[in-house]
Amino acid sequence: MRIPAPTSPPSRLRITIIGCGTLGQALAHGVVKQRPGNVRLDEIVLTGRRGSHVDALQLQFPELTVTGDNCDPCIWDADEGDTQKVHLLFLGPKPYDIPAACAQLYPVLQRQKDRGQSLPVIITLCPGITIAQLQSWLPYETPLVRAMPNTPVKVSQGATGLFPSANVKPLEMELVQAVFRAISPTVAVLPQENHLDIVASISGSAPAYFFHLMDSMIEAAKGLGLPESISTSLITQSCIGSGSMAHLSPGVSLAQLKNDVCVPGGSTRRAMDVLDTNDWHRHVEDAVRP
Ligand SMILES: NC(=O)c1ccc[n+]([C@@H]2O[C@H](COP(=O)([O-])OP(=O)(O)OC[C@H]3O[C@@H](n4cnc5c(N)ncnc54)[C@H](OP(=O)(O)O)[C@@H]3O)[C@@H](O)[C@H]2O)c1
Repeated sequence: MRIPAPTSPPSRLRITIIGCGTLGQALAHGVVKQRPGNVRLDEIVLTGRRGSHVDALQLQFPELTVTGDNCDPCIWDADEGDTQKVHLLFLGPKPYDIPAACAQLYPVLQRQKDRGQSLPVIITLCPGITIAQLQSWLPYETPLVRAMPNTPVKVSQGATGLFPSANVKPLEMELVQAVFRAISPTVAVLPQENHLDIVASISGSAPAYFFHLMDSMIEAAKGLGLPESISTSLITQSCIGSGSMAHLSPGVSLAQLKNDVCVPGGSTRRAMDVLDTNDWHRHVEDAVRP
C-alpha cells in the first residue's frame, strides 16, 4: 500500500508589501525564510516606485512577484474567488509618502468593497500616523493595524508593538503577529492606541539608547588605554549577553541580576553609585517621556 506523502496545511494568507524599502525587504526576507501562516511564495507581492528599484527587488527576490504598480491585478484580482484567505497589505513608504500611496489604493479597495469582497488588513509601519488619519485616507471601515517595529528587525531581532482597529478579526490579528514574529521575536499587542507613543520612545528608540551607552563605554575604555577594537567587541558581546540573560531568566528580577554583579565594596557597586548619585533614573525618565 502506498503511504501518501505528508501534506502541509493549506495557506491561509496572502501578503503584499507596498513600497518595499529597507523595512519591507527585512520583512520579505523573514517571511520567505519562515513562511508564517504557511504562506506560499507565489502569494507574496512586493511593490516599488522607481523602475530601477523594482528590478533590484526582482533580482533580490526571484521567487516572489514584484511590480511597479500598486493597483496591479496580481495584487487585487487574486482576492476575487477566494473568501477564505486573509490578505495582509503592509504599507512600507515613509510617512510623507503614505497619503499618496493611500490615494493610489483607494479606488481598488473601494471596488473590492462594492463587489462585497473582504478588504485586506492594511498595516502601517509609520510611528506617527494614527488609525483615524489612515481611515480618512482609505474607504470606510478598512481594517487597519498600526505597527511600531525597531531597527533590529534587519537582523530578525526586532521588538514590535501593534494596535489594531476595532474591526480587525482575531484570526487576522493572529496572522499579523505571526508575520512580524518572522523578524521580531517580541510582538506586543497594545490595549490602547496611545500606548504606541510610549512604545515608540521605549523599544522604537531603544537601539539608539543602547548604542549611545555602548559608545560612551568604548570612549571611556579608550581614555583608560584599552584599544578600541578590543573594547568594542567586549562591550557588544556584553550587551548581547546581558539581554539574553534577562530574556532567559524571566523569574529573576533585574534588581537581582544587577545585584549579582555588584559585590559590596567592589568596582561595579562604586560605578552604580556614581550613576545613581547623578540621577541616572530621572535622566532616563526625562529622555524617554513621549
Ligand atoms: N528601517 C527601519 O528599521 C524601520 C524601523 C521602524 C519603523 N520604520 C518605519 O517604516 C517605514 C519605512 O521605512 P524604511 O526605512 O523601510 O523606508 P525606505 O527604505 O525609504 O522605504 C520606503 C520605500 O517606499 C517606496 N515608496 C514610496 N512611495 C511609494 C508608492 N506610492 N508606491 C510604491 N513604493 C513607494 C520608496 O520608493 P523610493 O525608493 O522611490 O523612494 C522606498 O523604496 C517608515 O515609516 C519608518 O519610519 C522603519
